[in-house]
Amino acid sequence: MLESHKKLEKNSVLLLIFTIVAVSIGGLVEIVPLFRLETTIEKISGMRPLTPLELAGQDIYIREGCYTCHSQQIRPLRDEVERYGHYSLAAESMYDHPFQWGSKRTGPDLARVGGKYSDEWHTAHLVQPRDVVPESIMPSYGFMLNKGADLYRIGKHMKGLRTVGVPYTDEMIANAYKDAMAQANASGDGGDITTRYGKKVNVRDFDGQPGFVSEMDALVAYLQVLGTLADIKDYKPVEAKP
Ligand code: HEC
Repeated sequence: MLESHKKLEKNSVLLLIFTIVAVSIGGLVEIVPLFRLETTIEKISGMRPLTPLELAGQDIYIREGCYTCHSQQIRPLRDEVERYGHYSLAAESMYDHPFQWGSKRTGPDLARVGGKYSDEWHTAHLVQPRDVVPESIMPSYGFMLNKGADLYRIGKHMKGLRTVGVPYTDEMIANAYKDAMAQANASGDGGDITTRYGKKVNVRDFDGQPGFVSEMDALVAYLQVLGTLADIKDYKPVEAKP
C-alpha cells in the first residue's frame, strides 16, 4: 500500500487525477442531498405566501436591518419554547426569500410575535421604544408614520419571488396594488383579498392614520402575521424510526 502511494506521490499527473476523483466524490456527497431539500420540509396546513402589504412590510424589516437584532427562529429548547411558544417549523419560513432566521438576539425572537400586542402598541413602540419599554435600547422608527409604503412595485417583487418558488398566481400579481390598499382599509372591507389569500388576513388600519397607507401600516401588518399562519395544532412530528 505504502509502496503504491509512493508512486502516486512521485507522479504529479497521477496525483492530480486521484485528487480530482477524491474531491468529486466528497462534493457529490455534500451537494446531491441539497437537490432533494424540499422533501425534508414537513408540510403544515395554513401556510400561505405573504399578502402584498405584508410583503412590503417584510421589505422594510430587511431594509432597516431588524434582523441584526432579532431572530425569527424558536429553537426546540425548553426555555425558548416556554418564552416564545412552539418551536419554529421549516415550513413556516419556506416562502421567505431571504429567510429571516437571523443569527443574533439583541432583542427577543419575533417568530411568533403576531397577535401578541395590539397595533397601537407596535406603532407606539416603533415610534419610540422607550415610551413602552423604558429600558429599551431599540432605535426609534417614527419616520415610518410619514412615509408612504412603496406599493407600486410590489407586484413586480411578487413576480420575482414566483421565479424562486413562491406560489403567487397571475391574479395575485395583477391585483397586488389593489390588495395592498384594501388590506389597510380602515372600514375592514378588504375586497377580494380573502378569496385570494384565505381567511387569515388582517384587514384594518394598522397605524392609526386612516386614509394613508404608511410604511408603519406595512411593517405592523407584517409583524402581526408572524407565526400565526401555520396550524400548529395539526402538527404531528414524524416519529424517529428506531
Ligand atoms: C439595536 C438592536 C435593535 C434593532 C435594530 C431593532 N430592535 Fe426591536 N428590540 C430590540 C430590543 C433590545 C428589544 C427589547 C426591548 C423592547 O421591547 O423595546 C426589542 C423589542 C422589539 C419588539 C417587541 C418584542 C416582544 O416580544 O416584546 C418588536 C416587535 C421589535 N423589537 C421589532 C423591531 C423591528 C420591526 C425592527 C426594525 C424596524 C427592530 N425591532 C429593530 C432591539 C432592536
